[in-house]
Amino acid sequence: MEVTFSIRRLNPDADQPASYFQEYELELEDSSTVLDGLIKIREEVDGTLALRCSCRSAICGSCAMRINGEAGLACNTKVIDAKPRNGAPIVIEPAGNMEVIKDLVVDFQPFWDKIRAVEPWLQHGGAPPEQEYIVSNESMVHLAGVMSCIMCGACVSDCTVLEVDSNFLGPAALAKAYRFASDPRDDADNSRLGMLNQYGGVWDCTRCLKCIEVCPKDVAPMDRIMALRDMTIEAGYTNTNGARHAEAFSDSVKHSGWLNELMLPIKTFGITNIKEMLKLARVGLRAEQVGKVPPIFHKSIPGVQNVKRIFEKVEKKR
Ligand code: SF4
Ligand code: SF4
Ligand code: FES
Repeated sequence: MEVTFSIRRLNPDADQPASYFQEYELELEDSSTVLDGLIKIREEVDGTLALRCSCRSAICGSCAMRINGEAGLACNTKVIDAKPRNGAPIVIEPAGNMEVIKDLVVDFQPFWDKIRAVEPWLQHGGAPPEQEYIVSNESMVHLAGVMSCIMCGACVSDCTVLEVDSNFLGPAALAKAYRFASDPRDDADNSRLGMLNQYGGVWDCTRCLKCIEVCPKDVAPMDRIMALRDMTIEAGYTNTNGARHAEAFSDSVKHSGWLNELMLPIKTFGITNIKEMLKLARVGLRAEQVGKVPPIFHKSIPGVQNVKRIFEKVEKKR
Protein backbone atom coordinates (compact mmCIF):
# COMPACT_ATOMS: atom_id res chain seq x y z
CA MET A 1 0.00 0.00 0.00
CA GLU A 2 1.31 3.48 -0.90
CA VAL A 3 0.74 6.16 1.68
CA THR A 4 1.97 9.65 2.49
CA PHE A 5 2.68 10.77 6.05
CA SER A 6 2.61 14.51 6.71
CA ILE A 7 4.46 14.98 9.99
CA ARG A 8 4.61 18.12 12.08
CA ARG A 9 8.27 18.66 12.89
CA LEU A 10 10.03 20.92 15.32
CA ASN A 11 13.76 21.15 15.78
CA PRO A 12 14.56 22.90 19.09
CA ASP A 13 18.19 23.34 18.02
CA ALA A 14 17.28 25.52 15.03
CA ASP A 15 18.16 29.23 15.28
CA GLN A 16 14.47 30.17 15.42
CA PRO A 17 12.52 26.97 16.20
CA ALA A 18 9.19 26.92 14.36
CA SER A 19 7.08 23.91 13.49
CA TYR A 20 6.49 22.86 9.89
CA PHE A 21 5.03 19.84 8.05
CA GLN A 22 7.26 17.40 6.21
CA GLU A 23 5.87 14.74 3.86
CA TYR A 24 7.19 11.19 3.46
CA GLU A 25 5.96 8.71 0.85
CA LEU A 26 6.03 5.12 1.98
CA GLU A 27 5.28 1.61 0.81
CA LEU A 28 3.71 -0.33 3.71
CA GLU A 29 1.94 -3.64 4.32
CA ASP A 30 -1.85 -3.49 4.63
CA SER A 31 -1.49 -4.67 8.22
CA SER A 32 0.99 -1.90 9.16
CA THR A 33 0.30 0.50 11.99
CA VAL A 34 1.07 4.21 11.98
CA LEU A 35 3.93 3.41 14.36
CA ASP A 36 5.36 0.89 11.85
CA GLY A 37 5.36 3.69 9.28
CA LEU A 38 7.07 6.16 11.63
CA ILE A 39 9.74 3.63 12.59
CA LYS A 40 10.36 2.89 8.91
CA ILE A 41 10.86 6.60 8.25
CA ARG A 42 13.26 6.92 11.18
CA GLU A 43 15.25 3.81 10.26
CA GLU A 44 15.30 4.02 6.45
CA VAL A 45 14.49 7.55 5.35
CA ASP A 46 15.21 10.24 7.94
CA GLY A 47 17.10 9.41 11.13
CA THR A 48 16.43 12.88 12.56
CA LEU A 49 12.74 12.17 13.20
CA ALA A 50 12.11 12.05 16.97
CA LEU A 51 9.31 9.92 18.44
CA ARG A 52 8.67 7.86 21.55
CA CYS A 53 7.61 4.21 21.55
CA SER A 54 8.37 0.98 23.32
CA CYS A 55 5.95 -1.97 23.52
CA ARG A 56 4.28 -1.59 20.08
CA SER A 57 1.29 -3.37 21.65
CA ALA A 58 -0.82 -0.62 23.29
CA ILE A 59 0.59 -1.44 26.73
CA CYS A 60 3.32 1.05 27.63
CA GLY A 61 1.41 4.23 26.69
CA SER A 62 4.42 5.97 25.16
CA CYS A 63 3.29 6.46 21.54
CA ALA A 64 0.26 8.76 22.01
CA MET A 65 0.11 11.46 19.35
CA ARG A 66 -2.45 13.21 17.16
CA ILE A 67 -3.36 11.28 14.04
CA ASN A 68 -5.52 13.26 11.61
CA GLY A 69 -6.27 15.75 14.38
CA GLU A 70 -7.29 13.30 17.12
CA ALA A 71 -5.18 11.76 19.89
CA GLY A 72 -4.53 8.02 19.79
CA LEU A 73 -1.83 5.40 20.06
CA ALA A 74 0.25 5.11 16.90
CA CYS A 75 0.83 1.42 17.62
CA ASN A 76 -2.84 0.48 17.59
CA THR A 77 -3.91 2.67 14.68
CA LYS A 78 -3.79 0.84 11.37
CA VAL A 79 -2.54 2.86 8.41
CA ILE A 80 -5.36 1.44 6.30
CA ASP A 81 -7.89 2.97 8.73
CA ALA A 82 -6.09 6.30 9.06
CA LYS A 83 -5.50 6.84 5.33
CA PRO A 84 -8.04 9.41 4.08
CA ARG A 85 -10.22 8.13 1.23
CA ASN A 86 -9.47 11.18 -0.92
CA GLY A 87 -5.78 10.22 -1.09
CA ALA A 88 -4.68 13.06 1.22
CA PRO A 89 -1.73 12.35 3.53
CA ILE A 90 -2.13 10.97 7.04
CA VAL A 91 -1.41 13.97 9.26
CA ILE A 92 0.70 13.15 12.32
CA GLU A 93 1.27 15.68 15.08
CA PRO A 94 2.59 15.59 18.63
CA ALA A 95 0.09 15.16 21.49
CA GLY A 96 -1.62 18.44 22.42
CA ASN A 97 -1.65 20.43 25.66
CA MET A 98 1.96 19.53 26.38
CA GLU A 99 5.08 21.37 25.29
CA VAL A 100 6.88 19.87 22.30
CA ILE A 101 10.48 18.87 23.00
CA LYS A 102 11.23 17.70 19.47
CA ASP A 103 8.99 16.53 16.58
CA LEU A 104 6.56 14.01 18.14
CA VAL A 105 8.12 13.99 21.62
CA VAL A 106 6.33 16.09 24.24
CA ASP A 107 7.21 17.05 27.80
CA PHE A 108 5.22 14.82 30.19
CA GLN A 109 6.46 16.53 33.37
CA PRO A 110 3.22 18.52 33.99
CA PHE A 111 1.27 15.30 33.38
CA TRP A 112 3.22 13.46 36.09
CA ASP A 113 3.05 16.45 38.44
CA LYS A 114 -0.74 16.35 38.28
CA ILE A 115 -0.88 12.60 38.79
CA ARG A 116 1.35 13.04 41.87
CA ALA A 117 -0.86 15.92 43.10
CA VAL A 118 -3.83 13.58 43.59
CA GLU A 119 -1.72 11.35 45.90
CA PRO A 120 -2.11 8.13 43.90
CA TRP A 121 -1.49 5.66 46.67
CA LEU A 122 -3.65 3.93 49.27
CA GLN A 123 -3.95 5.86 52.52
CA HIS A 124 -5.08 4.19 55.69
CA GLY A 125 -5.24 6.23 58.89
CA GLY A 126 -5.87 3.51 61.48
CA ALA A 127 -3.81 0.51 62.49
CA PRO A 128 -3.25 -1.93 59.64
CA PRO A 129 -5.31 -5.14 59.73
CA GLU A 130 -3.70 -8.08 61.55
CA GLN A 131 -3.36 -10.16 58.42
CA GLU A 132 -4.51 -8.58 55.18
CA TYR A 133 -7.07 -6.19 53.72
CA ILE A 134 -10.20 -8.06 52.65
CA VAL A 135 -12.29 -6.39 49.98
CA SER A 136 -15.28 -7.61 48.02
CA ASN A 137 -14.83 -8.98 44.56
CA GLU A 138 -17.38 -6.50 43.14
CA SER A 139 -15.47 -3.48 44.42
CA MET A 140 -12.29 -4.64 42.70
CA VAL A 141 -14.14 -5.51 39.49
CA HIS A 142 -15.57 -2.00 39.57
CA LEU A 143 -12.06 -0.56 39.86
CA ALA A 144 -10.63 -2.72 37.08
CA GLY A 145 -11.88 -0.35 34.36
CA VAL A 146 -10.12 2.69 35.77
CA MET A 147 -7.03 0.68 36.72
CA SER A 148 -6.48 -0.17 33.05
CA CYS A 149 -5.18 3.36 32.39
CA ILE A 150 -1.76 3.15 30.73
CA MET A 151 -0.87 6.82 31.34
CA CYS A 152 -0.60 7.55 27.63
CA GLY A 153 -1.89 11.13 27.94
CA ALA A 154 -4.25 10.90 24.94
CA CYS A 155 -7.09 12.27 27.08
CA VAL A 156 -4.91 15.13 28.30
CA SER A 157 -3.84 15.89 24.73
CA ASP A 158 -7.41 16.51 23.58
CA CYS A 159 -9.00 17.90 26.76
CA THR A 160 -10.80 21.10 25.78
CA VAL A 161 -10.43 22.68 29.23
CA LEU A 162 -6.66 22.13 29.37
CA GLU A 163 -6.42 24.04 26.10
CA VAL A 164 -7.49 27.19 27.93
CA ASP A 165 -6.61 26.49 31.58
CA SER A 166 -3.45 24.60 32.43
CA ASN A 167 -4.41 24.72 36.11
CA PHE A 168 -7.07 22.03 35.53
CA LEU A 169 -5.94 18.68 36.95
CA GLY A 170 -7.19 17.04 33.78
CA PRO A 171 -8.86 13.73 32.91
CA ALA A 172 -5.98 11.32 33.60
CA ALA A 173 -5.19 12.67 37.09
CA LEU A 174 -8.86 12.88 38.04
CA ALA A 175 -9.51 9.32 36.84
CA LYS A 176 -6.55 8.27 39.00
CA ALA A 177 -8.02 10.19 41.95
CA TYR A 178 -11.28 8.29 41.48
CA ARG A 179 -9.40 4.99 41.47
CA PHE A 180 -8.20 5.68 45.04
CA ALA A 181 -11.22 7.61 46.36
CA SER A 182 -13.47 4.66 45.51
CA ASP A 183 -11.14 1.94 46.81
CA PRO A 184 -12.65 0.45 49.98
CA ARG A 185 -9.18 0.11 51.52
CA ASP A 186 -8.57 3.84 51.33
CA ASP A 187 -9.89 6.05 54.12
CA ALA A 188 -8.58 9.43 52.99
CA ASP A 189 -11.88 10.20 51.23
CA ASN A 190 -12.51 13.51 52.96
CA SER A 191 -9.11 15.05 52.37
CA ARG A 192 -9.01 13.73 48.80
CA LEU A 193 -12.48 15.04 47.99
CA GLY A 194 -11.78 18.37 49.68
CA MET A 195 -8.74 18.84 47.44
CA LEU A 196 -10.63 17.80 44.29
CA ASN A 197 -13.39 20.28 45.15
CA GLN A 198 -11.00 23.24 44.70
CA TYR A 199 -10.34 25.37 41.61
CA GLY A 200 -8.78 23.15 38.94
CA GLY A 201 -10.61 20.08 40.28
CA VAL A 202 -13.76 18.15 39.42
CA TRP A 203 -15.99 21.15 38.76
CA ASP A 204 -13.80 22.54 35.99
CA CYS A 205 -14.61 19.78 33.48
CA THR A 206 -17.05 20.98 30.79
CA ARG A 207 -18.26 17.45 29.98
CA CYS A 208 -17.17 17.70 26.35
CA LEU A 209 -16.75 13.87 26.18
CA LYS A 210 -13.46 14.16 24.30
CA CYS A 211 -11.46 12.18 26.88
CA ILE A 212 -13.94 9.31 26.62
CA GLU A 213 -13.73 9.34 22.83
CA VAL A 214 -9.93 9.21 22.60
CA CYS A 215 -9.02 6.93 25.52
CA PRO A 216 -7.61 3.71 24.05
CA LYS A 217 -8.39 1.72 27.20
CA ASP A 218 -12.02 2.69 27.84
CA VAL A 219 -11.17 4.29 31.17
CA ALA A 220 -13.96 6.85 30.56
CA PRO A 221 -12.29 9.65 32.56
CA MET A 222 -15.26 12.01 32.29
CA ASP A 223 -17.57 9.43 33.89
CA ARG A 224 -15.09 9.12 36.77
CA ILE A 225 -15.08 12.90 37.17
CA MET A 226 -18.89 12.92 37.32
CA ALA A 227 -18.77 10.17 39.98
CA LEU A 228 -16.26 12.24 41.97
CA ARG A 229 -18.64 15.21 41.80
CA ASP A 230 -21.38 13.09 43.37
CA MET A 231 -18.93 11.90 46.01
CA THR A 232 -17.92 15.47 46.93
CA ILE A 233 -21.57 16.50 47.33
CA GLU A 234 -22.34 13.38 49.39
CA ALA A 235 -19.32 14.16 51.59
CA GLY A 236 -20.88 17.55 52.36
CA TYR A 237 -18.84 19.79 50.03
CA THR A 238 -21.86 21.72 48.79
CA ASN A 239 -20.62 25.30 49.04
CA THR A 240 -19.25 25.64 45.50
CA ASN A 241 -20.66 27.07 42.28
CA GLY A 242 -20.50 23.59 40.77
CA ALA A 243 -22.43 21.87 43.56
CA ARG A 244 -25.04 24.64 43.68
CA HIS A 245 -25.39 24.53 39.88
CA ALA A 246 -25.95 20.75 39.93
CA GLU A 247 -28.52 21.02 42.71
CA ALA A 248 -30.40 23.95 41.13
CA PHE A 249 -30.46 22.15 37.76
CA SER A 250 -31.92 18.90 39.07
CA ASP A 251 -34.29 20.74 41.42
CA SER A 252 -35.74 22.73 38.53
CA VAL A 253 -36.22 19.67 36.30
CA LYS A 254 -37.68 17.66 39.18
CA HIS A 255 -40.30 20.27 40.04
CA SER A 256 -41.25 21.72 36.65
CA GLY A 257 -40.01 19.15 34.12
CA TRP A 258 -37.58 21.59 32.48
CA LEU A 259 -34.80 24.00 33.24
CA ASN A 260 -35.50 27.41 34.75
CA GLU A 261 -32.75 29.28 32.90
CA LEU A 262 -33.46 32.51 34.73
CA MET A 263 -33.03 31.08 38.22
CA LEU A 264 -30.16 28.68 37.44
CA PRO A 265 -27.34 31.28 37.43
CA ILE A 266 -28.87 33.17 40.36
CA LYS A 267 -28.99 29.99 42.48
CA THR A 268 -25.52 28.99 41.29
CA PHE A 269 -23.71 32.22 42.16
CA GLY A 270 -26.05 33.55 44.87
CA ILE A 271 -28.00 36.82 44.59
CA THR A 272 -25.54 38.55 46.93
CA ASN A 273 -22.61 37.91 44.59
CA ILE A 274 -22.64 41.41 43.08
CA LYS A 275 -19.78 40.79 40.64
CA GLU A 276 -21.46 37.74 39.07
CA MET A 277 -24.89 39.41 39.11
CA LEU A 278 -23.50 42.36 37.14
CA LYS A 279 -22.00 39.95 34.61
CA LEU A 280 -25.35 38.18 34.37
CA ALA A 281 -27.15 41.49 33.85
CA ARG A 282 -24.90 42.17 30.86
CA VAL A 283 -25.68 38.70 29.46
CA GLY A 284 -29.38 39.37 30.09
CA LEU A 285 -29.22 42.64 28.13
CA ARG A 286 -27.58 40.93 25.18
CA ALA A 287 -30.15 38.10 25.35
CA GLU A 288 -32.93 40.70 25.38
CA GLN A 289 -31.53 42.30 22.21
CA VAL A 290 -31.76 39.01 20.30
CA GLY A 291 -35.09 37.92 21.83
CA LYS A 292 -33.60 35.09 23.90
CA VAL A 293 -34.63 36.04 27.43
CA PRO A 294 -36.19 33.05 29.22
CA PRO A 295 -39.76 33.51 30.51
CA ILE A 296 -40.04 35.32 33.85
CA PHE A 297 -42.87 33.05 35.03
CA HIS A 298 -41.59 29.49 34.85
CA LYS A 299 -44.51 27.08 34.28
CA SER A 300 -44.40 23.31 34.66
CA ILE A 301 -44.67 21.20 31.51
CA PRO A 302 -47.73 19.00 30.98
CA GLY A 303 -47.09 15.56 32.47
CA VAL A 304 -44.54 16.85 34.98
CA GLN A 305 -45.70 14.14 37.41
CA ASN A 306 -44.00 11.56 35.13
CA VAL A 307 -40.69 13.40 35.51
CA LYS A 308 -41.20 13.49 39.29
CA ARG A 309 -41.79 9.73 39.29
CA ILE A 310 -38.45 9.19 37.50
CA PHE A 311 -36.69 11.28 40.17
CA GLU A 312 -38.41 9.32 42.95
CA LYS A 313 -37.33 5.99 41.44
CA VAL A 314 -33.73 7.16 41.07
CA GLU A 315 -33.67 8.54 44.61
CA LYS A 316 -35.04 5.26 46.02
CA LYS A 317 -32.28 3.30 44.28
CA ARG A 318 -29.52 5.32 45.94
S1 SF4 B 1 -14.95 15.73 29.46
FE1 SF4 B 1 -13.91 17.10 30.89
S2 SF4 B 1 -11.96 16.11 31.38
FE2 SF4 B 1 -12.81 15.10 29.56
S3 SF4 B 1 -11.86 16.16 27.84
FE3 SF4 B 1 -13.80 17.20 28.22
S4 SF4 B 1 -13.33 18.86 29.66
FE4 SF4 B 1 -11.55 17.47 29.65
S1 SF4 C 1 -7.34 7.68 30.91
FE1 SF4 C 1 -7.10 6.66 28.92
S2 SF4 C 1 -6.35 8.27 27.55
FE2 SF4 C 1 -6.07 9.01 29.63
S3 SF4 C 1 -3.99 8.47 30.17
FE3 SF4 C 1 -5.30 6.77 30.86
S4 SF4 C 1 -5.35 5.32 29.17
FE4 SF4 C 1 -4.53 7.22 28.35
S1 FES D 1 4.37 1.71 21.80
FE1 FES D 1 3.60 1.15 23.75
S2 FES D 1 1.58 1.93 23.69
FE2 FES D 1 2.31 2.26 21.69
